[in-house]
Amino acid sequence: MLTYDFTVTPDRRGDGAEKWESMYREDPDLRNNSAIVPLSVADMEFKTPPAVAEALADLASHHVLGYTGPTREYVESVVGWQQRRHGWTPKPSWLVCTPGVVPAIALAVRALTKPGDGVIIQTPVYYPFRMMIEAAGRKVVENPLLRKDDRYVMDYADLERKASRKNVRMIVLCSPHNPVGRVWRRDELRKLADICLAHDVILVSDEIHDDLVMPGHSHVTLCNVLTPEERKRCVVCTAPSKTFNLAGVQCSNIFIPGKKLRRRFKAEADGLALGMLNAFAYTACRAAYDQSEEWLEQLIGVVWANHQLFVSFTREHFPGVQAFPLEGTYLQWADFSAWGMSAEELERFMKKEARLFLDEGTLFGEQGAGYERINLACATNVLQAALYRLLAAARVRNLPVV
Ligand SMILES: Cc1ncc(COP(=O)(O)O)c(C=O)c1O
Repeated sequence: MLTYDFTVTPDRRGDGAEKWESMYREDPDLRNNSAIVPLSVADMEFKTPPAVAEALADLASHHVLGYTGPTREYVESVVGWQQRRHGWTPKPSWLVCTPGVVPAIALAVRALTKPGDGVIIQTPVYYPFRMMIEAAGRKVVENPLLRKDDRYVMDYADLERKASRKNVRMIVLCSPHNPVGRVWRRDELRKLADICLAHDVILVSDEIHDDLVMPGHSHVTLCNVLTPEERKRCVVCTAPSKTFNLAGVQCSNIFIPGKKLRRRFKAEADGLALGMLNAFAYTACRAAYDQSEEWLEQLIGVVWANHQLFVSFTREHFPGVQAFPLEGTYLQWADFSAWGMSAEELERFMKKEARLFLDEGTLFGEQGAGYERINLACATNVLQAALYRLLAAARVRNLPVV
């Protein structure tokens, strides 16, 4: 068994990395200070899995980088991954490749609803959902999650009310959920599906975090709770991008079992010239799925250890701060409202005083005021340093810390 090194933080300065550049825009002096690692945007401070790096180098050196589509081997690899990891067998004909899951959501909204239609999202949620819906001239209909102590659950009574509105045509589900870290159980998904299908609301399930599931939990793909007939009303979005840190390669695999929906989706993609991926995407995805499973297992161990560190540090030093349990994703959701700061104050404190560059809770919806999302996909010593910076800054401010 190979052992991979998740203790080294790669130097991304000069790479145009969005997570780092957004920190430099806030504080240009940090370009000369490699001790501060941002913990915001959802990519990882880890190098590409070696098998992927080797496959891409081989492609660049020995092959022609012309217009490229998915080969039979590619489709087998993608379908095989879903079979092996998630226990379902999508038909190869259901697969549509798009250069990202956000583009797929934008396409689904545009292809399968009409201007002015309502699309449900479950806030707080990954903010591009709202952006894609609004940019397409559709209306966001919020079905906020309910916070039950340290867990979030769906509000089915509210969902029923919203799904039954005449103009509501679609729901975009986040499964596992970013930022609250829930891995939805089969019965939860079935209840949601019952309500949506009864009102002919199309189900778009963003399962980009499906492989990043913590010990004791398992991801249930939406297709596995639906009958073959019901599947014709769903779109399932998957990708190797979160799992293997390949977001910049822009490769997503979208499963659309219903012929009619698939035809409309593809026509929209073709009309916007989004029907073909870059040549690197297919090679990277295959090398990830076929040769990097052990890398993933070890990565999950690191994320889980980081989550446990976050929880135990918070319990010990930050009474009143709520660190939510991590069932899936590598994103820690935490409630700092006990510190009594406004959302703006909290952001300023984190950035200017603690030098922590996180994703502010309000990005994900108004329910996120007072919350922060912390990216755990980093070397453990990076997270440790961040927590100690936070403790020191909180002491200076006389916040209730121990
Ligand atoms: C729920 C969710 N969907 C989609 C994405 C991004 O998708 P892509 O980069 O493939 O467009 C992210 C990235 O953080 C995400 O968390």
